[in-house]
Amino acid sequence: MKTESTWANLIICDTPQDAAEEVAQQIAKRVRESPMCKLGLATGGTPVETYKRLVQWHRQDDLDFSSVTTFNLDEYVGLGPKHPQSFRRFMDDQLFDHVNINLLNTFVPDGTASDQEQECRRYESKIQETGGIDLQLLGIGHNGHIAFNEPGADATSRTRVVDLTDETIKKNARFFESIDDVPRTAITMGVGTILEARKIILMATGPGKSEAIKTMLNRPATSAHPASLLQTHPNVTVVVDQAAAG
Ligand code: F6R
Repeated sequence: MKTESTWANLIICDTPQDAAEEVAQQIAKRVRESPMCKLGLATGGTPVETYKRLVQWHRQDDLDFSSVTTFNLDEYVGLGPKHPQSFRRFMDDQLFDHVNINLLNTFVPDGTASDQEQECRRYESKIQETGGIDLQLLGIGHNGHIAFNEPGADATSRTRVVDLTDETIKKNARFFESIDDVPRTAITMGVGTILEARKIILMATGPGKSEAIKTMLNRPATSAHPASLLQTHPNVTVVVDQAAAG
């Protein structure tokens, strides 16, 4: 079901699978219409099914990623590309290793760079050099974070090193052997970086996200809930399942 929120194009799907299908279709359409498009990508549990469908369509329908460039939102500081919980490894496993993308055109911040500040500047410049992101995929944290922009993040923030909140560390501990293994800092695109994408799709599934979605859609834009800062963007689509729609 498509419905209008005051500022976003809101699509409520029956199931998480339908939401994954909807988002994958929008990404595939963009790739077909603009083979050289620049995609901003997210990790986490939410987009996994979406990436599965893109892989499936690449295999079945020749969905062609050969000229696509991608930029990921974030990476843990200290985790190298082969670390099982690094976001680079996640992207390789979920998408890049299964489609015909040129790995040289897939960018994820380098969490092991010796100079992290320089790495953040390099990442920003790389996005600018390629002409900016056409379509940015986002998930949302229970506390309203987008990428690793935790509550308090400024609307103008750029790619930088951030401390993760205790809540995010606890939530992400499910992917690690123990909570002590979860890195405490990460490199993240800033809210300002994200807002420069020409189109944004935020997706959320499951009842645990319904409060965050409600606040994002209906409360005034505030840094206390970084996803609500998307209200200032002219082209945002929010795709949720019934559970996340509350
Ligand atoms: C991932 C990211 C995060 C997640 C968010 C939701 O690259 O930047 O903001 O999108 O934490 O995570 P899941 O999908 O695991 O609920």
